[in-house]
Amino acid sequence: MDKKATLTLNDGRSFEFPMLGGSVGPEVVDIRSLYGKAGVFTYDPGFMSTASCNSTITYIDGDAGVLLYRGYPIEQLAVHCDFLEVCYLLLNGELPNAAQKQGFVATVTRHTMVHDQLNRFFTGFRRDAHPMATMVGVVGALSAFYHDSLDINDAEHRQVAAFRLIAKLPTIVAMAYKYSIGQPFVYPRNELSYTGNFMRMMFAVPAEDYKVNEVLVRALDRIFILHADHEQNASTSTVRLSGSSGANPFACIAAGIACLWGPAHGGANEACLQMLEQIGDASKVGDFIKRAKDKNSGVRLMGFGHRVYKNYDPRAKLMRETCHEVLNELGLHDDRLFKLAIALEKIALEDDYFVSRKLYPNVDFYSGIVQRALGIPTSMFTCIFSLARTVGWIAQWQEMIADPEYKIGRPRQLYRGATRRDVKPMAQR
Ligand code: ACO
Repeated sequence: MDKKATLTLNDGRSFEFPMLGGSVGPEVVDIRSLYGKAGVFTYDPGFMSTASCNSTITYIDGDAGVLLYRGYPIEQLAVHCDFLEVCYLLLNGELPNAAQKQGFVATVTRHTMVHDQLNRFFTGFRRDAHPMATMVGVVGALSAFYHDSLDINDAEHRQVAAFRLIAKLPTIVAMAYKYSIGQPFVYPRNELSYTGNFMRMMFAVPAEDYKVNEVLVRALDRIFILHADHEQNASTSTVRLSGSSGANPFACIAAGIACLWGPAHGGANEACLQMLEQIGDASKVGDFIKRAKDKNSGVRLMGFGHRVYKNYDPRAKLMRETCHEVLNELGLHDDRLFKLAIALEKIALEDDYFVSRKLYPNVDFYSGIVQRALGIPTSMFTCIFSLARTVGWIAQWQEMIADPEYKIGRPRQLYRGATRRDVKPMAQR
């Protein structure tokens, strides 16, 4: 027999709703007919108990610390695959075989250059603009350049837009960086790997070439893999909601980038590194922890806590491992901030405040240290995150458009404002 949930209102009326089961994870109560049947809404700010869509892309078990992309554990993908294989997986549902990978890489590679006129777009921004401000503008502006991939009802347009976004984001992120430091743009080199090419566009200068270090490329590639998707987080939900109105994919991804910028989301690794710099050294950790526990201080332990993970974020473990590898490769065994982060983590994991609230390190706790060691400035961290997350956003957007249950997203509200009243003439107000 199909499972049902019953809602009984205190006026005695009772209503039944179907229960839906996923392949794994909690069942959901299908309340779509609630308003029609009972004339009431549900109230769930922050979506604490609300599934906004069904999806086959990413699964998280926050209590167990599990993250799966299309069923594959993140720990296996991070070790056995590169970022473009993971992109293929997220977009197509299966890992590529050798021929499929070659075709996919070739197509992405062919789209790495941006329209030459886009170069001039950058000069409209102040040099001291935050690179994320530039990113929101430039990515949104792609829709003014690529008119042949804007029809969301045409599967081929959607696919070309997907390739363009995945291929051009590294170029645009590197351009935003070069512009902010007053250096000339470095064009992509298609013989390099996706991530190697990105590092070269970031760090090469016309006066001397940049030699790609494979250990560092692998570390950055891992950062991309770990950030590629994370089911219905704030920025992904933003992309879905923007896309639900029929907006074009470039505009939707720009909206996702805007949402990611916030310090409670993608901006956390930047905030985390700033926090480590502020703490300065291990002797001040105790005092800082005290302030992070005090609600009136306005201080939070950045890189700690997560809406979904109530256990160690599996990505944070992989990131800590990568942190060791990068610091060893660069001979930075005694890195001050890494040591400080380890000391902070140890104390927080033993402190009842953090333990009782199930606050564990999230991926951002170590990713800032890795990026800093790679030579990436703090202000670029969220740009790197947006580069990596673009594939997740596109996969989710594609899934939404293809979903027969897809509708414009339109939450309801609990109105608590003034009831109907009349406008008084100016003299009587
Ligand atoms: N430091 C100190 N206290 C914290 C922290 C923290 N980092 N995170 C949560 N808490 C406390 C809250 O004060 C609250 O305490 P209370 O129950 O006594 O009131 C309790 O833990 C629950 O916190 P909420 O804010 O209700 O949890 P929520 O799920 O809404 O927030 C969030 C999750 C935003 C990530 C939060 O933990 C946070 O601000 N962390 C720091 C920022 C951060 O690292 N963000 C990265 C997220 S991962 C990502 O985007 C890739």
